[in-house]
Amino acid sequence: MKIYDVQVNHLMNPVGFRMERVSLSWKVKESRDKRQKSARVVVALDENMTNVILDTGFDTDADSLCYEIPVTLRPRTRYYYTVSVRTDAGEEGVSEVYFFETGKREEPWQARWITCDSIEPRHPYFEKEIIPKQKVERARLYISGLGLYEAYFAGNRIGEEFFAPYSNDYNRWIQYQTYDVTEQLHERGKLSILLGNGWYKARFGFTAHEDKGFYGNEWKLIAELRLTYEDGTEDVIGTDETWQVRRSTITFSNLYDGEHRDDTLPDLPVVAAQLCGAPKGKLTDRMSTPVIPRETFVPKALIHTPKNELVLDMGQNFTGIFELEVDVPKGQLVRIQTGEIMQEGCFYNENLRTAKSEYLYISGGEPIILQPHFTYYGYRYVKIEGIPNLTVDDFTGIALYSEIPLRGTMHTGHDLVNQLLSNIRWGMKGNFLDVPTDCPQRDERMGWTGDTQVFSPTATYLHDTYSFYAKYLYDMYQEQMDLGGMVPDVIPSCGVETCACVWGDAACIIPWNLYQFYGDLNILKDQFSSMKAWVDYISGYDGEDHAWRSHFHYGDWLALDNMNGNPEETYGATDEGFIANLYYAASSGIVAKSAELLGYWEEKEKYEHLCNRQMDIIRKEYYSSTGRPCFDTQTALVLTLKYGLSSNEELVKQLLKKRFHKSGGKLQTGFAGTPLLCNVLTEHGMVDQAWELLLNEEYPGWLREVKLGATTVWERWNSVLDDGSISGTSMNSLNHYAYGSIAEWMFRHVAGLNVSHLYPGCRHMDIRPNLNWKLREQDTVYDSPCGEYRSSWKIVDTNHVQVHITVPFGASATLVLPDAEEEKVYMLDAGAYNFTYRTRKCLRPEYSMSSTIRELKKDPAVWEAANNVLPICSAPQQYWDIPFNEMLEKVGNIWGNDSREKAERFFAQMVCQ
Ligand code: BGC
Repeated sequence: MKIYDVQVNHLMNPVGFRMERVSLSWKVKESRDKRQKSARVVVALDENMTNVILDTGFDTDADSLCYEIPVTLRPRTRYYYTVSVRTDAGEEGVSEVYFFETGKREEPWQARWITCDSIEPRHPYFEKEIIPKQKVERARLYISGLGLYEAYFAGNRIGEEFFAPYSNDYNRWIQYQTYDVTEQLHERGKLSILLGNGWYKARFGFTAHEDKGFYGNEWKLIAELRLTYEDGTEDVIGTDETWQVRRSTITFSNLYDGEHRDDTLPDLPVVAAQLCGAPKGKLTDRMSTPVIPRETFVPKALIHTPKNELVLDMGQNFTGIFELEVDVPKGQLVRIQTGEIMQEGCFYNENLRTAKSEYLYISGGEPIILQPHFTYYGYRYVKIEGIPNLTVDDFTGIALYSEIPLRGTMHTGHDLVNQLLSNIRWGMKGNFLDVPTDCPQRDERMGWTGDTQVFSPTATYLHDTYSFYAKYLYDMYQEQMDLGGMVPDVIPSCGVETCACVWGDAACIIPWNLYQFYGDLNILKDQFSSMKAWVDYISGYDGEDHAWRSHFHYGDWLALDNMNGNPEETYGATDEGFIANLYYAASSGIVAKSAELLGYWEEKEKYEHLCNRQMDIIRKEYYSSTGRPCFDTQTALVLTLKYGLSSNEELVKQLLKKRFHKSGGKLQTGFAGTPLLCNVLTEHGMVDQAWELLLNEEYPGWLREVKLGATTVWERWNSVLDDGSISGTSMNSLNHYAYGSIAEWMFRHVAGLNVSHLYPGCRHMDIRPNLNWKLREQDTVYDSPCGEYRSSWKIVDTNHVQVHITVPFGASATLVLPDAEEEKVYMLDAGAYNFTYRTRKCLRPEYSMSSTIRELKKDPAVWEAANNVLPICSAPQQYWDIPFNEMLEKVGNIWGNDSREKAERFFAQMVCQ
């Protein structure tokens, strides 16, 4: 037996994190048994587990998803622990030793906030010579610096993190980080802290001025170095006026425009640091998970463009920084710019709007490896000026993102779908940089609530998101407290004080999603006030006359059903008031369900009543007494089915089918409809339509982007036109994860790993995969909070399938084999299962003389084969929806007298045996 993924508060071996409780979780694999009978946790103050402070004994109530243990936490203390598990059949195992270390918690700081002249643009190093008095046994650095900081000791970087102290509502709270610096502090050296501007004190968001920060304009630093010597005595060296300020050669930095460095500048006199007032927000133990370099890229090509530019193609759109080897004469300017796409073979960055996204370097004449400190780029292409003999070996791309451990992978038999899955994952990696952002490249990069609301289930199938979102949601509530419960459109708001449905509903939907995936009620407990505050805010606004409906809403943002030929249109055709009212009701329902789980009975009653009342209002307002909806858009019909709003579901399904027929089987949905679309279709007996949407290679659809060379997911269905030109620049990012939400459907319904509130934490999985001939096979692994599920299927021939299912230790599953002759529910315990069977129907789509040209067109292989027999692509469009039989009569003998015979022969081999 192996006990793995042992975590405390959903973090592995955290140091200095905020700890409201000590809640452990673990997973078990490689056991011959099925489930845990009891578990035991031992906590000690030493790594050898001798100085034990807690032993729970074998506890039959120990929940591997969240087991809270009673430890009274002291500040700055490392606790070691093990988890032992006993199984139902008597096997016993013990984990390795894990630890968590507290930060300063509520302990007062001995250090003081210091600053320097902040008008001088050269970024400061705050420095102090450190001379340990004796041999250091333990050294810790507790530190925060605004806007951003990087710490060095004796010239070496402390830790690997970028963008600390991270991004949140600085007016409310400021995170500090804890670093174990025991190794470095074996000798004397200089502690140097370099400060940058970042979110705090440079232009960022919609409200900050060109040269000013939204939160502040002064560099500020606080640091406390604690040295514990062998004899147990301690030295505390805190920031104060004895620290010195030396200026770097970095003359400019901000997140949108990049960084400037001039190595020809002379040294400036070193001056003393000044004491200063604390910033507004409370200094708090960290919650942000580390952003560190996680992957590197070497350029795929060096392109000499028609405009005589030197451009590197990294082969992948990603987010991060770079390393560039530079060896040019003193005074030479090197300019680096980034972009996402080439246009007419040349470098292009107009879709970044006002973000300059560059790096400027004036050489000091020495060879150097350049690396930005306080900016990042969302890019695939890099234009470099000032290095005439540039080679691909000079440049390395570095992807930076938060700690989001890998959880789910899916591989299929369809190359384009596999590339789509890769694009979706890169969309996530590129936008999980401390805050879940809309995009990483243009002058925005903000924590748009709506985008991440719709993407959160996909994100959580792909990676462990609990701690990442816990910080975002905590920050959300901090903002809400200043705004009467309102959830601003972006978190941190940086001054944005507008809100809207679907976006603000992130306050309820994301915690609810996390609860379903992790089975840990703490997220609901922690967010309950936030969830409730949001619904109360809407209630207050809505009053008795439905004012919320006429509030500004983005609605089905970027849907295609309202474009009228304008490729830059942003609003869809679904009535925003309807969406607003529905999400109000749905969020109330989530508050009610959460209250029930938490045992808050009064709130349960209140919000359940509110939810029911609003649902009734919606039914009366938007549906006839027989259940006919008063609207006809894909998104509105999908929402109707999802929330069971019509008394005539069959009618709504018919209307939806008709809608799809009218749009040639293509989607028209935007931010509200798209994430739900394929799930709702599948859950209402229309899985074929869902497959058609996924596998469609024409505009609009997911695979079209892939075919046009996308390596991330685009903001708009029409971001790039068929000829490769960008459709507009006002709002057009090529790395926007929202539509990547299709991966949720693939995990839920293609693999069939349908995580739901019925079985929180994936203790049980209702597995119903769906087969598709064109996909041919798929293999999905989801390392859920309860352990590793695997679901794979492979179509062997037109009538045979192999299915493999793995259910993790401690879990169970029900399985319905797809297209089996007999619909049977298998009850599965932990273990691995293989099935090979004959299907009840032919798996290859059958085409006959009653098929239409349009139907054939949807299947590229069949289309090609058919056109090899008869050039049907040349048939006039008015015949495309008529059965072949009739069509042949109508077109006459334009393809020769033997057209019918040829067609009949062709279709004869398209029938399954
Ligand atoms: C962002 C979004 C966001 C939207 C809100 C855009 O500028 O990039 O994705 O959700 O505004 O309307």
